[in-house]
Amino acid sequence: MNTTEKDLITKIEEAKKYIEGKIKIKPEIGIVLGSGLGDLAEEVNEAITIKYCDIPHFKTSTVVGHDGVLIIGKFMSKNVVMMKGRVHFYEGYSMEEITFPTRVLKALGISKLIVTNAAGAINKELSPGELMIINDHINIVGINPLIGKNFDELGTRFPDMTNQYNKELIDVANDVAYKLKINIKEGVYAYMSGPNYETKAEINMLRVLGADAVGMSTVPEVIVARHSGIDTLGISCITNMASGILDAPLNHREVIEVSNRVKDKFKTLIRGIIEEM
Ligand code: HPA
Repeated sequence: MNTTEKDLITKIEEAKKYIEGKIKIKPEIGIVLGSGLGDLAEEVNEAITIKYCDIPHFKTSTVVGHDGVLIIGKFMSKNVVMMKGRVHFYEGYSMEEITFPTRVLKALGISKLIVTNAAGAINKELSPGELMIINDHINIVGINPLIGKNFDELGTRFPDMTNQYNKELIDVANDVAYKLKINIKEGVYAYMSGPNYETKAEINMLRVLGADAVGMSTVPEVIVARHSGIDTLGISCITNMASGILDAPLNHREVIEVSNRVKDKFKTLIRGIIEEM
C-alpha cells in the first residue's frame, strides 16, 4: 500500500466513522439531489442532517442553490441518504474530491444510487421541462476520477461500463413514470466540464457523437459508483435547449427557473421510483 492509497482509504474511513457516529440506520439507497430538487430532503423522516463542512474531507459547494448537507433517514419506508448539493469539477476541486462523497456513501452501505441533474437538450425531441432517463454517457472531458493508482479494495482497475446505468432501474423508472402519467424520455448524457455553457460548435459535435443532452455533473460520480459496484439510475431535468439549438443565449437563471417549475413532477417521480426499488 503506498501513501496515496492509504490516504484515500483512511479518509473514507474517517468520514464514514464521523457519519456513523451520528446515525442509527444503515442507508441502502443514495440520492444526489440536483438543481431544484433539494427540498425533497424535507420529506425524510427521522432525519439526521449533517453539513458537508463538518464531515472530514468533504468539500463544500460554492454554487448558489447547492447547499451542502447530507440527510439520512427514512423515505418511502426505505433507509436513504440524500446529498443536498454536490461539488463540481469547475469549482476547482479534483476528480477525487468531487467523487469522495460517492465513496463514502458506498462505505456507509448503499447498493443503489439515484443521481439527478439539470441538463441542456441537444436532441430537438427533448424540450425544457421534460425529464430524461440517462441510458448512457459520453465523457469527452479527458479526465476521469479513476486515473491514478487503483485501490483494489474499492474496485477493479478496468471497470466494465456497459451497464453502468442499470437496466432494471431504468425499467423501474419507465414503469413508474408510465403509471404516474409522467412523460419521460431516455437518452445519452454528454459531460462537459463547464463552467461556461458550450459553444454552438461543441453542441454540434456532441450531437454528431450521439448525445441527447449535456451537463456539467453526474458522470464522475457515476464512474466511481460503477467502480464501487453501486447500481445507478440517472435522471436529467431538461432546463434549456443547448447552445445554438435555438437562437437564444443561455443563462443560469433560466436553468434555475425551469428546474423550480418542474420540481413537483420530478419529486413525484423520485418518490415513486424509491417506493419500487
Ligand atoms: N449545458 C451544460 N450544462 C447545463 C446546461 C447546458 O446547456 N443546462 C443545464 N446544465
